[in-house]
Amino acid sequence: MLLQYTLTAIVLALGLWILSPTVLRKVVTDSDGNPLPPGPNRRFFSLRQYPERTVFAWAAKYGRLFSVWMGSQLFVVISDPRVARDLLVTNGAIFSSRRQYFLKNKIILKGRAITASEYGDTWRQHRKIAMQVLTAKAIEGFGQSLSYEARMLIHTLIDESQSGKVALNPYHYTARYALNNMLFISFGMRTNHKEDPLIERAVELALEFNKLTGPWSNPVDFFKPLEWLPTSKRTRAYKLHQNLIDVYGSMILRVKAKLDADQYVPDCLVKTIIQDQEREKLDWQDMVMLSAVFMLGGFFSASLTSPHSTASTAGLIQWFLALIPSHPEVALRAQEELDRVVGRDRLPTMEDEKHLHYIRAIIKEVQRVHSPFWMGTPHCTTEDFTYDGQFIPKGTAVILNCYSIHHNSDRYEDPWLFKPERYLGDDMTCAESAQQPNPLDRDHWTFGAGRRICPGIHAAERQLFLAISHLLWSFNFHSLPDEPISLEEYDGSSGRTPRPFKLKLSARHELVPSVLHGAQESTYWIL
Ligand code: HEM
Repeated sequence: MLLQYTLTAIVLALGLWILSPTVLRKVVTDSDGNPLPPGPNRRFFSLRQYPERTVFAWAAKYGRLFSVWMGSQLFVVISDPRVARDLLVTNGAIFSSRRQYFLKNKIILKGRAITASEYGDTWRQHRKIAMQVLTAKAIEGFGQSLSYEARMLIHTLIDESQSGKVALNPYHYTARYALNNMLFISFGMRTNHKEDPLIERAVELALEFNKLTGPWSNPVDFFKPLEWLPTSKRTRAYKLHQNLIDVYGSMILRVKAKLDADQYVPDCLVKTIIQDQEREKLDWQDMVMLSAVFMLGGFFSASLTSPHSTASTAGLIQWFLALIPSHPEVALRAQEELDRVVGRDRLPTMEDEKHLHYIRAIIKEVQRVHSPFWMGTPHCTTEDFTYDGQFIPKGTAVILNCYSIHHNSDRYEDPWLFKPERYLGDDMTCAESAQQPNPLDRDHWTFGAGRRICPGIHAAERQLFLAISHLLWSFNFHSLPDEPISLEEYDGSSGRTPRPFKLKLSARHELVPSVLHGAQESTYWIL
């Protein structure tokens, strides 16, 4: 009987707690009586499948700034570019911290790795170190290796597809492209085997990271008592942290051994952090997590929330390949532009980019319709703030809802359609576009906003341009009649890649094999 009473009391208490926002919305105000932004009158514990669709419906109902409790955590969700600018940019001193997610930030990344750090001196210092290899100018210095990887991507695709005879799933090739780029920027190395165990290991770690993280996916992030339970996810998170230390730690040690032996190491992140270690007082965890975040963030990216199955750079190239067979008119127009600007006797280069307006438009449109991180990486407030008569308490998690922003018909005509031409006339890079004073003019919000905006934006843009322009220059794209490519369904819990698909890539003209001829796998060096 006692047990029955106790259970009833627990269920009642839980029910009251879940419904408590009804009351909280009336009593939580600032000193002038301004209430919280409107939102649902109950608490939620996770939004698992396609959370952006739920958030889209909420934004339509509650407006451009709404609030919602996930367990005990209050979130506000920004669904309008002007609000994003006013809060994340203009008031960046208050809106730039990170919520300490239990699995992702506390256990796996230990509050480090730039993305997981709270706003403050350590974050500033680590971001400054990272920027030494990520500014537009620094990325230019990696131009040769990035171009080489794009060439190798095409070469491998021709090879493996037996010149268009065999249909391919592009997943592995795009992942390898992104991995090699990030390996070079981070460790000054590449890997030259498709089945390299390092790729498998890096992919495993990133996939595991993506499975365990995500801004809305884990009840333990929103209900503190669950932190005390020995769940399998918690065990996996500890293991992942240790694996990151083991894998990336040993890679750092090998770079250090080369430097100690006065052997050549190309300029890269790890060389920088080894050389700056004493001056910047970096401990071992700082070093490992900084290099790990580049690989997780850049390769699968991560906004590192999400980051998500293989999202970001590789994911966006996969989305391009998923979209293009059903949009032959887009491919044709891009290829006419390539013939006019580049010709057929050489591959496109970074110098061509400023003349390839339509290809740039395609890339922006892929980022708009398939942003890998619809909910970005949540920011967190460090002070109470009242905006437009709405109270946002200190410690609130702040979500940039790109899904609603990217599908707003006031800003984008036919927002659900893939229409690259909407970006013709916009010749800014995404990094430049993000700096515009009028937020309504910004191309898209895929790289986040404000002081935490993705520092890898220049690296990502360059990789996307090289891969997509090379693919368009080289191939015609065909889906398989009995295996249609789904553009509605996708993988991942917070970062998004298409469901596995296959397509046929046939050489677009007779010069493709000869231009690619002689492209050889080389190794800058292999660990
Ligand atoms: C297309 C590829 C990429 C996309 C879509 C992307 C997207 C994002 C987003 C949305 C954020 C969160 C921004 C915010 O909090 O407002 C972020 C943060 C971050 N990204 Fe990227 N990213 C990409 C590529 C890269 C690359 C190539 C690197 C590394 C070279 C990188 C490193 C980082 C880091 C370190 C952060 C954390 C920044 C901070 O918290 O201060 N990302 N990224």
